[in-house]
Amino acid sequence: MNTPQMPGKLIVFEGTDGTGKTTQRDLLGRYLLAKGYPVIITKEPTDGPYGMKIRELYRHRSRFSREEELELFLADRRQHVKNLLLPSLMEGKIILCDRYYFSTAAYQGALGLDPEIILAQNDFAPEPHLVLLFQASLDIGLKRITAGRGETLNNFEQREFLEKVATIFSAIKRPFIRNIDASGTMEDIHRQVVGCVSDLLQPLRTASPD
Ligand code: TMP
Repeated sequence: MNTPQMPGKLIVFEGTDGTGKTTQRDLLGRYLLAKGYPVIITKEPTDGPYGMKIRELYRHRSRFSREEELELFLADRRQHVKNLLLPSLMEGKIILCDRYYFSTAAYQGALGLDPEIILAQNDFAPEPHLVLLFQASLDIGLKRITAGRGETLNNFEQREFLEKVATIFSAIKRPFIRNIDASGTMEDIHRQVVGCVSDLLQPLRTASPD
């Protein structure tokens, strides 16, 4: 869905697990709030009923077919779009969303579904103004998950699977996708993120009181 007539902006953080998306989304949120922008922070899967089911799925993946899994992510997104994303865009908010339909194309695509068909099935969802695609070697990502967070890998995080996910992410071409080199320090990555976002928010900034 096209969003040109809506005053808000939708900025999406995408990439394989452990690339630091969530940390950077929160850092950017604080940065923009301090500058007076009306920021909404959100994520997919959401904390709604379908999002809860999806988290259940992390633990018992074999109970679901990949088609059922896809349906759950789409149902979760439909609710997210209707309840939060569209109203916030209409209100002129800057939405920072951790994962969106590019993750569905990449993750469910890595399970063998067609990424292009998945993208087309997401036609109901507003097109983002900016997608920041976080890229780092899988070694870095997996180390951040297992060492940093003290977690073991879930089904979505197995190495071979993530290699396929990363390949699909890189193959999606859209004019609003910017690659972020996520192998550096937190500060370095934040600088890249702010650089990409500043271009997008320039008109808003000149319209704001300061
Ligand atoms: P996260 O909360 O750590 O980002 O984990 C969400 C997991 O769900 C992550 O491994 C990617 C996966 N996922 C999909 O498989 N399809 C989707 O459409 C979305 C949004 C996430």
